[in-house]
Amino acid sequence: MQFIKILRSATAIGMFGLTAFAAQAQETIKVGLIAPFSGPFADYGKQMEGGIKAYMQQHGDKVAGKKIEIIYKDTTGPAPEIAKRLAQELVVRDKVDFLAGFGLTPEALAVAPIAEQAKKPMIIMNAATSIITTKSQYIARVSMTLPQISAPMATWAVKNGIKRVVTLVADYGPGIDAETAFKTNFIGGGGQIMESIRVPLRNPEFAPFIQRIKDAKPEAVFIFVPAGEQGIAFMKGYRERGLAEAGIKVIATGDLTDDHVLPAMGDAVLGVITTFHYSAAHDSPENKAFLKSFAAANPNGGRPNFMAVAAYDGMAAIYDVSRKLNGKIDADKAMAVLKGWKTVSPRGPIMIDPQTRDVVQTVYVRKVEKVGGELYNVEFDKFANVKDPGK
Ligand code: PHB
Repeated sequence: MQFIKILRSATAIGMFGLTAFAAQAQETIKVGLIAPFSGPFADYGKQMEGGIKAYMQQHGDKVAGKKIEIIYKDTTGPAPEIAKRLAQELVVRDKVDFLAGFGLTPEALAVAPIAEQAKKPMIIMNAATSIITTKSQYIARVSMTLPQISAPMATWAVKNGIKRVVTLVADYGPGIDAETAFKTNFIGGGGQIMESIRVPLRNPEFAPFIQRIKDAKPEAVFIFVPAGEQGIAFMKGYRERGLAEAGIKVIATGDLTDDHVLPAMGDAVLGVITTFHYSAAHDSPENKAFLKSFAAANPNGGRPNFMAVAAYDGMAAIYDVSRKLNGKIDADKAMAVLKGWKTVSPRGPIMIDPQTRDVVQTVYVRKVEKVGGELYNVEFDKFANVKDPGK
């Protein structure tokens, strides 16, 4: 008798527990955020987390009556296998509604088949190789693509009388995309590529390559290296080997002068010209509000960069989808909302191209200058409504 009672109450607790769990599950919209939070690319995850916190600080953590919950997962990357395992866990165990983040291309590519099979909207907040969005119909990208940013740099260089260039890129997806788009536009505009150098993604040793650039005597060197420490290392070598004195200019994608590391780059970076979609110096009310909420939500976060902005915009997309679907996330309906989705980002107006699910945005030409004693990428020209040119 006693035994049966215990059994009954255990069942009751079990059932109650389950009901409570189901209710809780229904009251939450879960976002699985996959990015490196440790290792050489740890800043990527931290910038994204900072951007997400800034967004949630401004807009609260409830949409359509449901709480938005972010589950952060560290890939330690670049580590595609870990990213894949984390995505599987998020889908199967945590039952997330969205996959998001993705600092590095190999990690985004590794997760794309999971988004496709599990039918999970996957919001790319950085990874910038053109091909990524073609790997699942559930992917939408709010960040950038390297061809989108690099082609305008070539156009600007040709227009400004630069005729002979050496390219140097990180030897993986985004670097090869940057090299190809720059070359195509530069040669198409009458320029000459003297040499194309590719350096390893992990711990590149720039010194010998910088000597090769110097020996080739170009008018400029075009650079793509992944944002962060590598930009600092390249500029240090550029300064030490006297390339500026040899009359060799630096033109680059804005990854080189990433806002987060720019204040630490020193005066050697003054005058560097880059093309990019975001500068912390962008003059708009949306950017002012973003910088303010980023600082408030991340007291030791330093200066936000383009990854923080993409994460902030990615959250705006997730909130809008959740609102439009009244809190019930269905992947196909979510993609219908994302196709053609628009917002006024801290970087300027952006749109998700309904055909390609890739971002359409303004690409700015900027020059590193001192503003109030600090180094900034100051925008002075722009290309409006730029699509990924490969699509
Ligand atoms: C990428 O892996 O796609 C990537 C990483 C860092 C960047 C840009 C692209 O700055």
